[in-house]
Amino acid sequence: KDKSTVSITVVGASGDLAKKKIFPALFALYYEGCLPEHFTIFGYARSKMSDAELRTMVSKTLTCRIDQRENCGEKMDQFLERCFYQPGQYDSEKNFLELDRNLKQHEAGRVANRLFYLSIPPNIFIDAVKCASSSASSASGWTRVIVEKPFGRDSESSAALTRSLKQYLDEDQIFRQVFSLIDHYLGKELVENLSVLRFSNLIFEPLWSRQYIRNVQFIFAEDFGTEGRGGYFDNYGIIRDIMQNHLLQILALFAMETPVSLDAEDIRNEKVKVLRSMRPLRLDDVVVGQYKSHTRGGVKYPAYTDDKTVPGGSLTPTFAAAALFIDNARWDGVPFLMKAGKALHDRRAEIRVQFRHVPGNLYNKNIIDLATNELVIRVQPDESIYLKINNKVPGLGMRLDRSNLNLLYAARYSKEIPDAYERLLLDAIEGERRLFIRSDELDAAWSLFSPVLKDLEDNKIVPEYYPYGSRGPVGSHYLAARYKVRWGDLG
Ligand code: BG6
Repeated sequence: KDKSTVSITVVGASGDLAKKKIFPALFALYYEGCLPEHFTIFGYARSKMSDAELRTMVSKTLTCRIDQRENCGEKMDQFLERCFYQPGQYDSEKNFLELDRNLKQHEAGRVANRLFYLSIPPNIFIDAVKCASSSASSASGWTRVIVEKPFGRDSESSAALTRSLKQYLDEDQIFRQVFSLIDHYLGKELVENLSVLRFSNLIFEPLWSRQYIRNVQFIFAEDFGTEGRGGYFDNYGIIRDIMQNHLLQILALFAMETPVSLDAEDIRNEKVKVLRSMRPLRLDDVVVGQYKSHTRGGVKYPAYTDDKTVPGGSLTPTFAAAALFIDNARWDGVPFLMKAGKALHDRRAEIRVQFRHVPGNLYNKNIIDLATNELVIRVQPDESIYLKINNKVPGLGMRLDRSNLNLLYAARYSKEIPDAYERLLLDAIEGERRLFIRSDELDAAWSLFSPVLKDLEDNKIVPEYYPYGSRGPVGSHYLAARYKVRWGDLG
């Protein structure tokens, strides 16, 4: 019988992330039977709320991913009974001591493991870490603190943050009180699958280099603006919000060398190495944009600066395209293009790998500009992996066509894909650190983007304005063309 217990405290329980992602992910884990036998969930936030009120709030966002699932309502009730609330300030040792007393009651003398999920703004999280570690850490088991981005605004502020975290917590798992930096893109199914695709198939890895790959594109698009999040977003902008973390993490997994093993440290060692082999982004190699208002079908879509929480005249980019390079033997000269934007014409995250032309292709005379192979890893939505190939159109003549060999997850698997937060929370509970970011990775990531962010801001570079719902600034096409690249999503 399991003598230990896990207490999960969601700090910032009434915030958006907690409501929309963390509690539902915890419920999904519970539903799937993945949480330990003994567990308790605490919401911690400033507002006064009773346990019953927290349960009502949480219950509104819980879903059984497939509606007609068995016992869903019953499971929800059981789950909610294990959720409690503790009001408190984020910088109050006294309030965290109250939390500690409350947690102890539920832990009932078992070996107590404690997980804190900090879903609070960056300006208060060091205080919260300090209070959690001094007043509410476990005396008998482990204490793990998950920290959400943004981790600083540049190299310096990020390093300062890590230093502060390390005053109270360790990074290495051998210690009892540790922190983990989360990047939820690492928990996405197709991102996890990247290594499987590369390292467990014979046919991809031999082609994974400058010899066969012309360019690689990392695309993130959302078809909605910053609605309601302008206050946060304006301080950061799309490069810090998406590129420096989500897209760069995917790039690192894509481009790293084969790790010694699947062990967390082996993988993270390879990721750091490839990040360190990259050239810091230059101002010339980045295009920034910001969405402006646009009326379509009689509906007026707002400009970024129409958001009341965004300062008038803000130059913060809501779109960016960038060309990055990895100076190592495998990738020398291959452009790695990134594109990230809000309020674009569709919602999509994907990796596109464009292969080189077939040397001396016999069929070039049948078609002008014979298409090259392209591998697309669609992270979301409609998760899939497809390879564009050339084939003959059936018939007596000789005409070539371009088709997709397609692994569409929804057609291949009936089981729903778990949300990224489910995997990451489970890993945190189980002590698996492969999908969390090590602080040296974070340093390396910031060194690539800090100089250009400074240049953009010091020079008050005016973004290229693009209409809400469009394909974004044309500048991104000129940037790509400079490296003889066409964005693969145009076709
Ligand atoms: C967050 C960003 O990290 O990721 C948001 O701060 C963005 O701006 C979100 O909308 C996208 O996540 P997902 O999982 O919905 O693609």
